[in-house]
Parts: sequence; C-alpha cells; structure tokens
Amino acid sequence: MMYSKILRFGLLLSATILLTSQSSSQDASKQIDITADLFKCLTEMSKSGSGSFFVDNLLGNKAATETVAASATGGQYPPGSVISLIPTEVMVKHNPGWNAGTNDWEFIELNVSAEGSEIVHRGTTDVINRFGGNCFGCHKLARPEWDFVCGTDHGCAPLPIDRATILGIQNGDPRCVKEN
Ligand code: HEC
Repeated sequence: MMYSKILRFGLLLSATILLTSQSSSQDASKQIDITADLFKCLTEMSKSGSGSFFVDNLLGNKAATETVAASATGGQYPPGSVISLIPTEVMVKHNPGWNAGTNDWEFIELNVSAEGSEIVHRGTTDVINRFGGNCFGCHKLARPEWDFVCGTDHGCAPLPIDRATILGIQNGDPRCVKEN
C-alpha cells in the first residue's frame, strides 16, 4: 500500500519534471543573441497600433512587427520582435522552433536606470516579475490568435493598474534621460 503510493508519487514527479523540461526546452541554434544594451528607452521604440505598448525588431524587420501589433484580428509576431508595456518587462520573439511552449517568445525582466538596462531574469515558463507574478502564467491566457499578447481584451486577466498609471510608468522610463 505504502509502496504503491510512493511509486505513484514518483511517477507523477518524473512526469511533471519531463513535461516542465519539455515545455521550457530551448533550441540554441534558433536563439537570437540578446544583451542588455539592446533594450532602449521605451519612447524610442514605436507605439503599437493600439497605442498601449511599444514595439521594435532586433532583425531589422520592424514594419512586420508593427503590422501584427496594429492588426484588429491578431497574428503571429515575426522573429526578432521586441515588445514592452512597462520598461522592466519585455518579450522577445526568437526564430521558429526555439521554444514550442511559448511560440518562441522569451520573457525578460529588466532593471532599468539612467545607465541603461540590466537583465534580471529571462526564460520561457518560469520567469517571475518583481511583483511575484509568472509572465507566462498570465500571458498564456491570451487567445491563440493574439500570440501571447494580452492587450485589454485578448483573454488575460487585467492588470491591477489603470491606463494613466501605465502611461506614467512609460513616460518615466529612466533610460530616456539624455547624458550631457
Ligand atoms: C498578472 C498577470 C501578468 C504578469 C505576471 C505579467 N504580465 Fe505582462 N501583461 C499582462 C496584461 C494583462 C497586459 C496588458 C495590459 C494592458 O495593456 O492593459 C500585459 C502586457 C504586457 C506586454 C505588452 C504586450 C501585451 O501583452 O499586451 C508585455 C511585453 C508584457 N506584458 C511582458 C511581461 C513580462 C516579460 C512579464 C514577466 C516579467 C509579464 N508581462 C508579467 C499581464 C501580466
């Protein structure tokens, strides 16, 4: 009796470990190099079509990223896409096949200051923001056509801060302070 319980627990545990490692496995050959200095002042990026977040593209394909961000029906973001709502939280799209579980998105938590950006956490399903929230846990609720982008009506639970507060945080990005 006891042994079978232990056995079942053991099986459950290995299945969980297997699933977790599968969903967060990353194919290095599909990875775009990311360094902290790639993350710029938010207002130097382009505003998304909806106007709520900012977009860029590390592979020089910004127009394609802007098109998806402006679409009223969603779409899959192209590789190289960088999107950000508040300075410290960024999503980057790697090349197809990098990570199936996140549709190739990497979630990144930054520290930002007048000196620039510093990467605090990065990864797929296990990145936690400064408020203790799991990026993937919230963003996976976006309906598939929105490619993990929450917006205001894509299926994610709303953030506990209003639009004015978000605008204030965007406009207060310390990286925008020009050095003299
Ligand atoms: C509590 C749930 C939650 C957590 C945790 C969370 N987000 Fe979000 N995120 C949202 C919601 C909801 C929005 C849309 C907010 C809006 O526009 O009003 C959003 C917006 C964004 C956007 C702009 C594009 C979009 O999806 O609308 C990016 C980029 C982003 N978050 C990245 C991250 C990263 C990176 C992390 C972790 C470091 C993270 N988020 C953690 C819920 C969350």
